[in-house]
Amino acid sequence: STMSLEKAKQVAAYRAVDEFVTNNCVFGVGSGSTVVYAVQRLAEKVETENLKVTCIPTSFQAKQLIFKHNLTLGELDTNPILDVTIDGADEVDANMTLIKGGGGCLLQEKIVASCSKIMIVIADYTKDSKKLGERYKKGIPIEVIPMAYVPIKNKIVSVYGGDIKLRSAVAKAGPVVTDNGNFILDWLFTNQDLDWHNVSTAIKNIPGVVETGLFVNMCHKAYFGQPEGIVIERS
Ligand code: A5P
Repeated sequence: STMSLEKAKQVAAYRAVDEFVTNNCVFGVGSGSTVVYAVQRLAEKVETENLKVTCIPTSFQAKQLIFKHNLTLGELDTNPILDVTIDGADEVDANMTLIKGGGGCLLQEKIVASCSKIMIVIADYTKDSKKLGERYKKGIPIEVIPMAYVPIKNKIVSVYGGDIKLRSAVAKAGPVVTDNGNFILDWLFTNQDLDWHNVSTAIKNIPGVVETGLFVNMCHKAYFGQPEGIVIERS
């Protein structure tokens, strides 16, 4: 049910924040609906334990969450090394490879994660899979420069197969435009046995590709909230 899904997100988020937030830490704030619970918990801890935490956002949404809870906003210019980033994911496989970008924020999420000593994923039980594509059915998000979306799409499909859709906006006619002014392609891959490190590197080499939503070897630990309120950890 919706109740147990929200409960699962909350317990995962609270567990991760309780485990990894320390005084004086530089903290990366992920994006999406699960991270909302993490920021709530963070704000509670900062208040009750009188902590000093600098928060680096991964999106417009994350920045708004930081403001809403009166947390301290930082940026990579002044805080280029983060102690920990806590973020959601669309899918986490057995090797801790992630699909991210269902919410369109993959580029800044990957930049911030790459600057973090530790990246922690918080997710509900529906995100937990053995192989990518088993759970998340909307494909791998790829952020691209608008003028290049058609050639990029053709190149990926001709090499790896599957189908690619330009993500379209819900409340507007036309494509989704990211926080960085780019488009998003959703690659519905059919081959589940690809080497995701190689695929991600090859796709990033296509001119006009800004970033892929494949996070390989980035996540240190994942917390999966369960419908009954317990948390399963993977590292
Ligand atoms: C945003 O671009 C995504 O990478 C999110 O982190 C991901 O979609 C998880 O969001 P939820 O917590 O809402 O599932």
